[in-house]
Amino acid sequence: MSVKRNFGLKGRNVIVTGASGGLGRELTLLLIRRYGCRVLGVARNEQKLLWVRTELGELSDHFEYIAMDVSHRECWEQLARYVSMGRFKADVLINNAGMLPRFAKFGEYSQDEIEQCLSLDQDSVIWAAEEFIPIFEKKTGCSIINVASADALCPLAGTSVYSAAKSAVRAFSEALREEYRGKIYIPSVCPGFIRTEIMKGQGRSVSPLIGYFSMPAEKAARVLLRRANAGRSRIVFGLDAHFMSAAYIIAPVLSLRFFKWIFKVSGLEMFRDIF
Ligand SMILES: NC(=O)c1ccc[n+]([C@@H]2O[C@H](COP(=O)([O-])OP(=O)(O)OC[C@H]3O[C@@H](n4cnc5c(N)ncnc54)[C@H](OP(=O)(O)O)[C@@H]3O)[C@@H](O)[C@H]2O)c1
Repeated sequence: MSVKRNFGLKGRNVIVTGASGGLGRELTLLLIRRYGCRVLGVARNEQKLLWVRTELGELSDHFEYIAMDVSHRECWEQLARYVSMGRFKADVLINNAGMLPRFAKFGEYSQDEIEQCLSLDQDSVIWAAEEFIPIFEKKTGCSIINVASADALCPLAGTSVYSAAKSAVRAFSEALREEYRGKIYIPSVCPGFIRTEIMKGQGRSVSPLIGYFSMPAEKAARVLLRRANAGRSRIVFGLDAHFMSAAYIIAPVLSLRFFKWIFKVSGLEMFRDIF
């Protein structure tokens, strides 16, 4: 059987974390409307999850949700129990929930900011694997799709903790991909900027320039799902992501200095704390 037939997304039961907004919301809508999936959406804000269901109209019965904070270990135990009890027969998990701390020098972050980022952006992906690999190993054609970032291909000054967490997610996914090849499909996803609410954590005005470089969330979801459905091992998209990746491979030291210089000469308020 081809990878596509084995692990394709059509008609699957998919858990999407961070389904209430941004990329996760678009993934959810597309999975249901275009791929005929059933989706269990997970996020903290129940009202926003309800809006997603309302938006689905006559397909709303394909969407159920659990309001949960995936940055806590116990939530994954609860979610795995829910699935093991047969209340949602998941065969795909998309670890999409994430946050971007404000751009700053490492020393400017509080302990809380560091822990929040690591538990959501990194640890939750590992807890998810601990809980769901044993469940998925007993079935056939299951997938765990981990959303990292272009920062995992080229770390940027001002994003030390986020880059570390996302690099860990990429490396973890790539190692798992080989360990479970043929049994569970585990690609890593490294997008460039996407137009979502992720910048709201910056706590200061975000330049419209970022919007200009960003990919619309609906397009990002379309590309991600198309490539995952085709069984791609590594999913990188966005011109900025490809540029960052190539620059880092060619000049791993100079590329970082170059991007830092760009941040500096941009004079943008959002990068002020990096210097
Ligand atoms: N946007 C970009 O430029 C970009 C670029 C590269 C990679 N990414 C990655 O793409 C993923 C999605 O980001 P996005 O841009 O869509 O962000 P977003 O617009 O801020 O949406 C984040 C989603 O995650 C949920 N969430 C946040 N904390 C959570 C928690 N502790 N537990 C459960 N759900 C939580 C949020 O819902 P609630 O608030 O309701 O919990 C929301 O649905 C992230 O992993 C991000 O790192 C984004």
